[in-house]
Amino acid sequence: MNLIKILAVESSCDDTSVAIVENGRKVQGCETFSQVEKHKIFGGVVPEIASRNHIESIANLVKILLNKSKIKFNELDGLAVTYGPGLVGSLLVGVNFVKGLSIATGLPIVPVHHVKAHVAALYLTYPELEPPFLCLVVSGGHTYILEVLGYADVKIISRTRDDSVGEAFDKIGRKLGLDHPGGVHLDKLAENGNPGRVKLPIPLKFENTYDFSFSGLKTAMINIINNLNQKQEMINTEDMAASFRRHVVEYLISNFVQFAEKNNYKKLAIAGGVSANLLLRRELEKICLNKNWQLFKPILEFCGDNAVMVASQAFYEYQKNNFASLDLNAISSESL
Ligand code: KG4
Ligand code: ZN
Repeated sequence: MNLIKILAVESSCDDTSVAIVENGRKVQGCETFSQVEKHKIFGGVVPEIASRNHIESIANLVKILLNKSKIKFNELDGLAVTYGPGLVGSLLVGVNFVKGLSIATGLPIVPVHHVKAHVAALYLTYPELEPPFLCLVVSGGHTYILEVLGYADVKIISRTRDDSVGEAFDKIGRKLGLDHPGGVHLDKLAENGNPGRVKLPIPLKFENTYDFSFSGLKTAMINIINNLNQKQEMINTEDMAASFRRHVVEYLISNFVQFAEKNNYKKLAIAGGVSANLLLRRELEKICLNKNWQLFKPILEFCGDNAVMVASQAFYEYQKNNFASLDLNAISSESL
């Protein structure tokens, strides 16, 4: 069989990333420019700054990628790009850049959905992994339980009704005075804290669905922090981080495991930026070991946004002849 090489571009938020992957699983190269330092002083991602940084870095990253991997355009089979969901100004940079490349090279464009790309990060970590499996996708923009029925076929079981889990982590991280992105730093800090120190309400459970809601838990935590500040009482940040993290992780796992049990899934996976969370990984490992279920977790490098996962998903879309024309547009919120 002919090997399919795809060059992919990811620019949905604040990481500019380009990669070449062969047959969806063999990485030929990846170059990423993280904008974290550019947004740190604002305490979060500033959309216009993100777009401008994508524009400045994207062409050079592709040049470096081709040089390092010693691959020429005429050796590629396709170009892939994340078209949504994400920050529209950021997405537009990647989409238009890839259109230009397509006109210049004649290569077809494969449009990739960002959430499906996060799931594909698992195929890069586990070459033997095949659908079907149940996947918890947790990131800065998304919180889903998905049935991954085929490589290009996913079904939403549940979603968040308000904030994503990443947003909740980032907001509490910021409130605790941590650097952007708060979720990453909160996780590290929580490792040394007492998770039983702060009492938080049990998050909302909806009847007959496995949907999530994080806004109540987030507001309760903010109120606790404000009250403590007003009374000038001290609780160390490690304990606050650990308490909040424990509540969030228990909530995620409870819905995920309940659905798996009820529907006889024994093959579970996590993906997305928040799947790097140390407690989430540890607790799910324990549960799956106990129940004799399989658990698939992306290597840490592939949890957050990257173009390797986009190129991997693109291989499966390519096989289904899922190509875009030159009028492809960026979509900020696209359902699966
Ligand atoms: O997947 P991602 O890079 O971008 C989106 O698609 O949104 O996810 C970024 C999110 C941020 O909210 C970040 O704080 C969170 O993932 N995150 C974490 C951890 N690492 C990244 N949250 C909790 N614990 C972590 N270890
Ligand atoms: Zn993402």
